Amino acid sequence: MSKTRKILVPIVLALGLIQFIPHNRDVVSVEPTASFKTTNAEVKSILDKACMDCHSYETTYPWYANVVPVNYFLDNHIKEGREHLNFSEWNMSPAGDQRHMAEEIVEVVSEKEMPMLTYWLVHWDAKLTDAERKTLVDYFKSL
Ligand code: HEC
Repeated sequence: MSKTRKILVPIVLALGLIQFIPHNRDVVSVEPTASFKTTNAEVKSILDKACMDCHSYETTYPWYANVVPVNYFLDNHIKEGREHLNFSEWNMSPAGDQRHMAEEIVEVVSEKEMPMLTYWLVHWDAKLTDAERKTLVDYFKSL
């Protein structure tokens, strides 16, 4: 065996084997009245394409989300994202908390911290334009 093969074969085998590690995701049923609602269609579409996968229970998982160890990486971001901000539970938070979250959204969107780099690298339409950022910022400032 060549040197590269000696290295590659065990790696490929190991990657194949770890796929058998069982992994489950909690399926959370969304309470419709608890979810964030807006009549602003543009804001809704930006949130849907750039934020909801990590900041709500309405996550659309891509096929590779089931590939070990990618799943750990994604699930961790989603779990952490929901802990910070969960649009599926927005209306369950007191008004003061909602205001605080709106301020945080304004901050992370204007400073281009969100959506996360690793997200838009694979979801190109989630790389927001300046106009889209402004739409979100203006909207959450006005809440
Ligand atoms: C790939 C998953 C992912 C996407 C997509 C994403 N976020 Fe996040 N978000 C996170 C994670 C993880 C954290 C917590 C860690 C951190 O602050 O980096 C977070 C934190 C936040 C926070 C809290 C910041 C703080 O300082 O507490 C806000 C607000 C936020 N995100 C808003 C958004 C908005 C708005 C979008 C869409 C424009 C978005 N995020 C897209 C994963 C994501």
